[in-house]
Amino acid sequence: MRRLEIQGLTLGYGRRTVLREASLAPLEAGAITALVGPNGAGKSTLLRGLAGLLPARGSVRLDGQEMVGLPLERRARHIAYMPQSLPQGVALTVLETLLGALKASPGGFGASGISARAAAERALALLERLGIAHLALVGLDRLSGGQRQMAGLAQALVRQPEVLLLDEPTSALDLRYQLAVMQLVQALTRERALVTVVVLHDLGLAARFADRLVMLSQGAVRAEGAPEETLTPALLAEVYGVSARVERCSLGHLQVLADDPLPA
Ligand SMILES: Nc1ncnc2c1ncn2[C@@H]1O[C@H](COP(=O)(O)OP(=O)(O)O)[C@@H](O)[C@H]1O
Ligand SMILES: [Mg+2]
Repeated sequence: MRRLEIQGLTLGYGRRTVLREASLAPLEAGAITALVGPNGAGKSTLLRGLAGLLPARGSVRLDGQEMVGLPLERRARHIAYMPQSLPQGVALTVLETLLGALKASPGGFGASGISARAAAERALALLERLGIAHLALVGLDRLSGGQRQMAGLAQALVRQPEVLLLDEPTSALDLRYQLAVMQLVQALTRERALVTVVVLHDLGLAARFADRLVMLSQGAVRAEGAPEETLTPALLAEVYGVSARVERCSLGHLQVLADDPLPA
């Protein structure tokens, strides 16, 4: 069974340590882990660290294979990462960025991998599935924030990774696309047995779509477990500084209702 094991992971920027000796229960294939926590808690830092974009101490093992210290392109064979903000000023079309991602990936088309035609077919099929096939030939610099986010998601998925890391993939999306994207991420996670980690601000979305939650606070893991174990009024008060209710709606989904900020 595919799994990602994170042990004693320390990450930072230069001399500044942000995440200190974080260890998590193994992340299993076919399951979505939502990474939650207030602004500045270290969510993006953890994701960047898992993607291999920051110097790290500690251990990140995929199926027993150590990822820390592996050259970025070797790691990128297994792990796809979608950043919180996508680079601006890229004039390439959506399709071109997908073909570029495939070309750059080891075993991608070109030297040894799939043909250019197969690559184009794969890219177009993915855009179709994401509901943005009509944007294939549109330049990234002409997309709305939400459309760019969808294009970024396509870029992460097209390489068919084993581990999918998404940093706030729904932050710019309207209600319909938020649900569509999370349903799709869930379906692909199950179908392809991905280890998926998603940073989400919306705790309702997290509760509904995540199998597990990891709650970060000030660079440390404060809680992890099933949504009903981690989304408690006591933890929300401690970590987010709000008085909140956690209730089930008429469909049985957990709802987090933040009532008031607590005095600092
Ligand atoms: N490039 C950077 N250089 C220095 N410090 C950074 C950088 N990016 C983030 N930080 C710091 O790391 C901490 C965690 O940030 P981040 O991981 O982006 O939080 P989150 O995604 O949970 O909002 C913050 O204190 C932030 O100021
Ligand atoms: Mg962030």
